[in-house]
Amino acid sequence: MKTPVVELAGVRRIFEGTPPVVALDEANLTINQGDYLAIVGPSGSGKSTLLHLLGLLDTPSEGVYRLDGIDTAELGERDRAGLRANRLGFVFQSFHLLGHRTNVENVMLAEVYRKGSKSERRTRAIAALERVGLGHRLDAFPTTLSGGERQRVAIARALVGEPSLLLADEPTGNLDSVTSEQILDLFDQLHHGGLTLAVITHDSDVSLRAERTVRIQDGVLSEATVVPTGDSP
Ligand SMILES: Nc1ncnc2c1ncn2[C@@H]1O[C@H](COP(=O)(O)OP(=O)(O)O)[C@@H](O)[C@H]1O
Ligand SMILES: [Mg+2]
Repeated sequence: MKTPVVELAGVRRIFEGTPPVVALDEANLTINQGDYLAIVGPSGSGKSTLLHLLGLLDTPSEGVYRLDGIDTAELGERDRAGLRANRLGFVFQSFHLLGHRTNVENVMLAEVYRKGSKSERRTRAIAALERVGLGHRLDAFPTTLSGGERQRVAIARALVGEPSLLLADEPTGNLDSVTSEQILDLFDQLHHGGLTLAVITHDSDVSLRAERTVRIQDGVLSEATVVPTGDSP
């Protein structure tokens, strides 16, 4: 029995205005533990809107969003922030690292609101950096790293709290094709280790690596069903 991490049921997001914009329409989506999902669609189709909802950075106008079985509509801002910090990891196109902090400090900052001593946080940050292959650059500054290495630090920062779901928004958008492949290899490795991933992308090289692909067009989600190939009966 698969355990759902994300359940969207009849979720709409309408931006008020004249006319109002239906950025997401009646979205139904389940992401189970261990899934590797790509979300693809053209510019303006609703990808960021969906990511903001999944990331608890925005709330649906209608419908239900359950994260780890918790109905997020029931929560106040403080509890939403708690879920965001404890159950979600974010990776962005532009890394969002602090240049004047070392790599290990950047990763430690993700846990600043969690329990545990500084030395425990440091130990976990080191383990996360080792997991992404940067155990040899702990005390370097992100400004001295390549783009691919910076994205690895950002992935370590997203992983350090052991999130239920890793949300990535165009994670290879600032990387050349060779470096992108290396980041996608890391995602494969993390997926095989049991991580649940949802990756927003317009790049088919990225979506081809995922197990599932959900398309958005004008705010409407649809999932491509993969028909297993085999001999006809
Ligand atoms: N804050 C907002 N106010 C009004 N309209 C918005 C807002 N954010 C997004 N939209 C509209 O919602 C639609 C989906 O936008 P978005 O989710 O950013 O698309 P994508 O990330 O796929 O490019 C677009 O028509 C966009 O103009
Ligand atoms: Mg967008």
